[in-house]
Amino acid sequence: MADMQSLLTEKRVFKPEKEFAKAANWNKKKIAEYRKLGEKNPTRFWAQMAKEHVSWFSPWKKALDWKPPVAKWFVGAKTNVSYNCLDRHIEGENAWRRNKAAIIWEGEPGDSRVITYGQLHREVCQFANVLKSHGVKKSDRVVLYMPMVPEAAIAMLACTRIGATHSIVFGGFSSEALRDRIADAGAKMVVTADGGYRKGQAFGLKAHVDEALKGGRHPVERVLVVKRTGQKVKMKKGRDIWYHEEMLGASTHCPPAKLDAEHPLFILYTSGTTGKPKGILHTTGGYLTHVTTTTRAIFDLKEDDVYWCTADVGWITGHSYVVYGPLSCGATTVMYEGVPVHPGPDRWWELIAKWGVTIFYTAPTAIRTFIRLGDEHPERHDLSSLRLLGTVGEPINPEAWMWYHNVIGKKKCPIVDTWWQTETGGIMISALPGGVNTKPGSATLPFPGIHATVLDEDGQEVKPREGGLLAVRHPWPGMLRGIWGDKKRYRETYWGKWKNTYFPGDGAHRDRQGYFWIMGRIDDVMNISGHRIGTMEVESALVSHPDVAEAAVVGRPDEITGTAIVAFVTPTGKAKAGASFQGALKKHVTNEIGAIARPADIRFTTALPKTRSGKIMRRLLRNIASGEEPTGDTSTLEDFNVIATLKEGDE
Ligand code: WTA
Repeated sequence: MADMQSLLTEKRVFKPEKEFAKAANWNKKKIAEYRKLGEKNPTRFWAQMAKEHVSWFSPWKKALDWKPPVAKWFVGAKTNVSYNCLDRHIEGENAWRRNKAAIIWEGEPGDSRVITYGQLHREVCQFANVLKSHGVKKSDRVVLYMPMVPEAAIAMLACTRIGATHSIVFGGFSSEALRDRIADAGAKMVVTADGGYRKGQAFGLKAHVDEALKGGRHPVERVLVVKRTGQKVKMKKGRDIWYHEEMLGASTHCPPAKLDAEHPLFILYTSGTTGKPKGILHTTGGYLTHVTTTTRAIFDLKEDDVYWCTADVGWITGHSYVVYGPLSCGATTVMYEGVPVHPGPDRWWELIAKWGVTIFYTAPTAIRTFIRLGDEHPERHDLSSLRLLGTVGEPINPEAWMWYHNVIGKKKCPIVDTWWQTETGGIMISALPGGVNTKPGSATLPFPGIHATVLDEDGQEVKPREGGLLAVRHPWPGMLRGIWGDKKRYRETYWGKWKNTYFPGDGAHRDRQGYFWIMGRIDDVMNISGHRIGTMEVESALVSHPDVAEAAVVGRPDEITGTAIVAFVTPTGKAKAGASFQGALKKHVTNEIGAIARPADIRFTTALPKTRSGKIMRRLLRNIASGEEPTGDTSTLEDFNVIATLKEGDE
């Protein structure tokens, strides 16, 4: 979580450079005009954006149908996401883009591929035909469990072409997590790879799919396997099929399905405050409008830009700003398979120089890692192609912002700090590089048409510089349309706090200029290296171990990852507290969820501090986890000895 004090005292302001501002897609005048319209009539603003940025097969009857908390955008209109990302760039007056690079892909071992719009179109059509030939129909769910290879984007686009709904499961999640998501989504097919490369080694994916499908009680009929590493995999007859074999004979002709604007585009699971991840549902027309408009405006995309967002397609940032946003804008998007520091700590900077990257979008946690590794690594490479930088995923501390500005941007690149969520589909609060002054640590102002504000618990707007809860008052087109299979949870989680107002779960304040300073999650969701993990999720994983009686999980501040996971565990009588049990529990959590959920510390205790009504006192545990004296009221604590024992465990 961001340090409130250092944010409150941050005073520096950076103005857009004259040259940049003059050439920007959205200049000061345009921004002012859009803000005015967006303020007065957000529906009309978004309808104008939908006309300008998206191609439709037939128009809508109504731009917004809002029956809180259910929003429908562009009611009755028909479109297709893959048509917008591909066909429209290679037809008519745009036909010249046929041979423009759509995807520049770099594998971790150093292999690379450049795929043009024409090629991508052909491969997507072919794969859409493969999906069809295996019985995938409109509205069927397809789970993708992939490394960062172009086939991940091809599979996504192929699903959208025929109206199948994809659900990507990040390749770092375990087979257990994969099994739950396959079951919850009711997926008919899984698209995976034998494996991928990470930190110089081939890791397996297909083996995890096999594990997830063990026992046979699942809806999956086919598993399509991309050959990436060549490692040995088992292919189950009648179920498992090689991608490259299927593609050989597949036709390159596949007209895009004319889909309703509200047709389900994808489900993406994300952590919430319970043990069970939520399947966030996004639909077609509104989502596409939101991501296309924001990509063009915030990243100032021009025809000759080389745009690189470092996110994995397994996260929302990979969906919206590696694949759909940039391709819908007809841009060149870079995909990189591996880790930032392999084979050396300068891999990313080498890639920027190699491909002439002009726009670079990454997470504060990565920036902090690079600060620690030393300036000599970026300084060894020619980064002069860069003209715009972005960050996402967590609050950026002003020190990291300044380093990004000085060492990577050489003081000439504007920085857009973008606040948004899996649920919002696209960016909600961000600078517009052609006309908004930036302040290190602030995401600046809401995008036009986004009615964000800061409220107290009762729904009253708080005064400038007063802390409160981030809120959004009017629906926006990229907004989630629900939680897959759980209407009640959707209503309660996001719309239960105030009347007809969206609650994102973040704390924030505004300064006197109305700039937003996001303070981080205020619920039981942790942000580890920009990735969301629920405390309850890790707790359920821990208590599923036979030797664990009870567990409580909290976050503690960490210099690099933002937050680190600390688990307090009460073992059952027979289990021995000690290093080997700690190791076993860390491994258990990795198996249950994935390495991102692995606790940094595990502390054993005979009991957890609880209130008299039996609630675990998390605030107190957070104090202990970060080495602070317990603060606040402990008078309702059930057993004072418990704190004493927990603190002893510190030594
Ligand atoms: C946090 C990632 C501060 C926030 C796109 C949010 C941020 C959660 C920022 C969503 C930012 C994201 N400044 N905090 N610029 N961007 N967050 O769903 O707590 O993985 O609620 O979406 O990340 O994480 P998610």
